Amino acid sequence: MRIEPQLDGLMGATVTDFRLASASDADIASLREAVYRDSILLIKDQRLDPKEFVDLGNALGVIEVYYESMYHHPEHKEIFVSGTKPGNDFEGVPQTGKFWHADYSFMPNPFGITMTYPQIVPKGNRGTYYIDMAKAFAALPGRLQDQLRGTRVEHSPRRYFKIRPSDVYRPIHEVQAEVEQTTPAMFHPTVFRHPVTGEEILYVSEAASFGFIDERGLRLGPEVLEEVLELTGQLDSTFTDPQIHLQTFVEGDLLVWDNRALVHRALHSPKPEPAQSYRVTVHDEHPFFGASA
Ligand SMILES: [Fe+2]
Repeated sequence: MRIEPQLDGLMGATVTDFRLASASDADIASLREAVYRDSILLIKDQRLDPKEFVDLGNALGVIEVYYESMYHHPEHKEIFVSGTKPGNDFEGVPQTGKFWHADYSFMPNPFGITMTYPQIVPKGNRGTYYIDMAKAFAALPGRLQDQLRGTRVEHSPRRYFKIRPSDVYRPIHEVQAEVEQTTPAMFHPTVFRHPVTGEEILYVSEAASFGFIDERGLRLGPEVLEEVLELTGQLDSTFTDPQIHLQTFVEGDLLVWDNRALVHRALHSPKPEPAQSYRVTVHDEHPFFGASA
């Protein structure tokens, strides 16, 4: 197995000659180290069936099964299916993740590692955008860093909640009330230390963040969130902000990334094309939120 930094781009490494069936404990340990050091791993030439993909998840940590069953793979609930196969109307949910987010940030205990394994790679636009929120925090003006440290940030899925088949014909207020009951807003540390790299992570995303409260429980004005999103590149509709990294992939690639440090956003082609991806998410052995910054 070889792990080499990607030459073009802000972050990431490619992994070649990795075979799960013959991987040693040392290989798995190297992969786990590399996720935090390189933020994104592109594991090349994988030919895993769904069960083997789940096995890889189990090798890296403790799998989190997604809380909404409509995303589950029909035989392996550990796999979250995004996108749909042509002619297949039951497996997967189309157009997921088309907004900046960190996976599960609206949950009490998010997971540290996300893996996606594209099954049907679209011919046109393909890829995922990423922003490193450790670097983005380091680049903020000092007065904003100081203002954010010690605050908490409100996260909720309510802005982009996708209705389920069972929601059709339900009054919208009932669906909204259920969202608030199942996934009540979480107040996470806005800035925390990554438990492995020690970097300060800015835990704010355009999709899930609704504002900040300070140590006395007072809300900061909405302009603070607006400024944070603007300066971190998350409001750039042209995706040309130098903080944005576009990670492309080809068939056989399997992506693994640091879900603490990165926010990401799917790139969907403007005209619908068949695309499908499997995702497995895992908790590592570290607490998600390191020490408060
Ligand atoms: Fe995601």
